[in-house]
Amino acid sequence: LVAGVDSSTQSCKVVVVDTGTGRTVRTGSAPHPVGTEVDPSAWWDAVLAALHDAGGLAEVAALAVAGQQHGMVLLDSSGEVVRPALLWNDTRSAAAAGDLVAELGAAELARRCGSVPVASLTITKLRWLRNNEPENAARVAAVALPHDWLSWRLRGYGPAGQGPLGPDLEQLVTDRSDASGTGYWSPGSGSYDLGLFEAALGRPAREAGTPGRTPGLAVLPRVACPSEPVGTLHPDLVPGVAARQVKLGAGAGDNAAAALGLGADKGDVVVSIGTSGTVFAVADAPACDPSGTVAGFADASGGFLPIAVTLNAARVISSVSELLGTTFAEFAELAIAAQPGSAGVVLVPYFEGERTPNLPDATASFHGLSIASTTRENFARAAIEGMLCGLADGLDAIAGTGAGIQRVLLIGGAAQNPAVQAVAAQIFNAPLAIPAPGEYVARGAAVQAAWALDGTRPAWPLETAAAPVRDVRAVIREQYRAAQRQVASHS
Ligand code: XUL
Repeated sequence: LVAGVDSSTQSCKVVVVDTGTGRTVRTGSAPHPVGTEVDPSAWWDAVLAALHDAGGLAEVAALAVAGQQHGMVLLDSSGEVVRPALLWNDTRSAAAAGDLVAELGAAELARRCGSVPVASLTITKLRWLRNNEPENAARVAAVALPHDWLSWRLRGYGPAGQGPLGPDLEQLVTDRSDASGTGYWSPGSGSYDLGLFEAALGRPAREAGTPGRTPGLAVLPRVACPSEPVGTLHPDLVPGVAARQVKLGAGAGDNAAAALGLGADKGDVVVSIGTSGTVFAVADAPACDPSGTVAGFADASGGFLPIAVTLNAARVISSVSELLGTTFAEFAELAIAAQPGSAGVVLVPYFEGERTPNLPDATASFHGLSIASTTRENFARAAIEGMLCGLADGLDAIAGTGAGIQRVLLIGGAAQNPAVQAVAAQIFNAPLAIPAPGEYVARGAAVQAAWALDGTRPAWPLETAAAPVRDVRAVIREQYRAAQRQVASHS
């Protein structure tokens, strides 16, 4: 058996999978605190609780951790966390992102690290720290990401009283998919761009394990190969591990892990509707989009993962459903009862500002309301149309980077909603596949664990449900584009 962990924004999930068949044999979960600033110890407690909920690690030979990307985990020289982690959905570093782009240039940043940084990326959070919390910035001895830090702790490292092996920062390890979300690791060259790190924090850095232990250099996790076993779980920490070696994989960012868990291949685009909305393709060349729509990340298998991420996804549906006082099932019925295009009603759904396009201060707005069109049915459908149009714009931009698109895999909680599926078939201009509901991020981490265990990447079967056939209605995107342009010009 192998185990995969998904330390996501809202909770920690564990799947235990039979390596031979790919069948999930046990699962567990535990919630995370809400908020965009979180003490990493809450993730640690949740991993232990979720492993316990999954029945422990009896018979598990390897494990890997996937996690929410970009979160800034700062450690001091004794391995203590310097301040709560700022997460990917914390937009306080929007001005710092603007400063970095003004200083270095969007095209130069995209060329050097694959992405034009927005508030989500770690590099902008470091600049925010330098400007706003200089005393914390001065204490930083290492900068990690959520999954790197959890993997380090699972191997037994940590501050006094928490890590039996001590606070050895040289043992921090990450992988290329999560490293590429920092904004100071280059998917093109496969190495850190230490100049960009220094431009952000105002202090030089080096990769863990490399020579030059000059005092004052911040340590960045070593970037391991996708299939590399990076260590073993410490037997004192996790029940069921004592006296057995459980190998640990390098881990991954959640989107790259989902690609592994789905077995996504070239030509596949994944549209994931969760806390964030993400669209990503599996590609064999790094993307570089100076407009910033597509972030040119690396994947967790040695290839690339051009991605567009929206901040307003599943919550658009829950907010509007709450406004209408419906359950999700009633909301779907309302949306299905309206006509494609919602009789001209458009929701530009920037409830939490937006990341793609980069409008961190924008708000949501309804457009095209008339007495006749202001109905509950049109509001419900317009919410789904607006949310999916933002993702469709991302998909077009990804196609524009050269990634061929043959199939759209729709995942995330909202993907099971029949109205979302029906509207997706009217918006995405490619055949739709609906994978069976599942924890694909955790499953991808389990794929990686199996790969680290015996050197072969498993090809577990993917179950899909019947999907509606493509039925593109141009009006939906045309009217959305017009309303979106108005919002962008006023933001
Ligand atoms: C990716 C991103 C989100 C988080 C969510 O760039 O910001 O998908 O990884 O967990």
